[in-house]
Amino acid sequence: MQLLLKGGRVIDPLAGVDRAADVLVEDGRVSAVGAAPDAKIPAECVVDVSGKLVLPGLIDMHVHLREPGLEHKEDIETGSRAAAAGGFTGVAAMPNTIPVTDNRPIVEYICKRGRDVGLARVCPIGAVTKGLLGESMAEIGEMVEGGAVAFSDDAFPLADSGLMRHVMEYCRMFNVPVILHCEDKSLAGDGLMNEGLTSTMLGLRGIPDEVEEISTARNILLARLTGCRTHIAHVSTKGAVELIRRAKEDGIPVTCETCPQYFTLTDELVVGYNTNAKVSPPLRTAEDVEAVKAGLADGTIDVIATDHAPHAIEEKEAEFAVAPPGIIGLETSVGLVMTELVAPGILSDVQAFEKMTATPAKILGIPGGTLAKGAVADITVIDPAREWVVRPEELKSKSKNTPFGGRSLCGKAALTILGGKVVCRDGEIVE
Ligand code: NCD
Repeated sequence: MQLLLKGGRVIDPLAGVDRAADVLVEDGRVSAVGAAPDAKIPAECVVDVSGKLVLPGLIDMHVHLREPGLEHKEDIETGSRAAAAGGFTGVAAMPNTIPVTDNRPIVEYICKRGRDVGLARVCPIGAVTKGLLGESMAEIGEMVEGGAVAFSDDAFPLADSGLMRHVMEYCRMFNVPVILHCEDKSLAGDGLMNEGLTSTMLGLRGIPDEVEEISTARNILLARLTGCRTHIAHVSTKGAVELIRRAKEDGIPVTCETCPQYFTLTDELVVGYNTNAKVSPPLRTAEDVEAVKAGLADGTIDVIATDHAPHAIEEKEAEFAVAPPGIIGLETSVGLVMTELVAPGILSDVQAFEKMTATPAKILGIPGGTLAKGAVADITVIDPAREWVVRPEELKSKSKNTPFGGRSLCGKAALTILGGKVVCRDGEIVE
């Protein structure tokens, strides 16, 4: 099977490629980048992508697909549809499922469901502790054999530093990264939003920056102690960016991500007790947003993920204290990155998409992230000029909990290609 993407601007950050070129795909792999031999390609296999960006398939290394157990929020099929519509060919799924993804059979189940759906590469992240209870280590080696690409207790951060040390030593042995949601739960207490003027005005208990920063500092120090590849999830505060910047200067093996909500929104969005602005970590201040952007620009922040966290309408339509934290992100990420980072010149498109392709692929050790000859043909074609408005009801995700409803964006995935097969065209899944 052949596919010729003709006339696009090819960006392959890993290879340092940014040029007008055609991309020829044969039998699920990239077979040539450059002027392709049209004569031999049947017309129905040629797609005109002039004016568009041709990128390695985007990878979101932090999503919640909710299967098994929480399928009223999302499942692997609807989550894969949302991924494909958003331009993602690969997603790494967090383990806070029911039952918890803390053993090999569940890891294998998630891999198989992902393959059967066939719209995105679904890579499970295994739990660090059994049942996410923070008490005893899960079977990390067995989960690696079953296909887990990383380990995390995500929303249930492991407080026990001794146990975390052992986890990191294990992960280092298997050369898999740990992903850390940095939150000191004892300091967070029953805080509901960022601590500051807005929380005081609203009468909501606050979560200070130190909740994130104490935990970030501890995890950096444990990375130094163990040499384990340590990835800090969803960085949201100025202080956390600074801690990671210094850790990198010191040569500690740490990488990190942020998510679009942390470079576009502030805690003022909570005014009116807007539960779609409730997320963990919480939305911070304009100063933090600027620091996150600076961290993206100077390379301190390696990856843009989404922390796609679907919740059902009835769960979010509750009083602020009761509503679960989380924002969906797969279908708005490209538009927000293009509109809020690339258009104002904070990042070039090459820099932005490196953080969504080559870098997450490298951290997770998964295929993709490049358009080199012979690479698996996971490709995302983006229309940088496509203006659109976020309409939650039109999103493919089963849940609609986005704070970006009504926002005008510029830039959208036009084609998502998985293993050489077009799985989504102009936002519609190709069955
Ligand atoms: C996450 C979820 O819903 O699974 N929500 C979120 O706001 N990030 C869990 C979590 O990290 O709290």
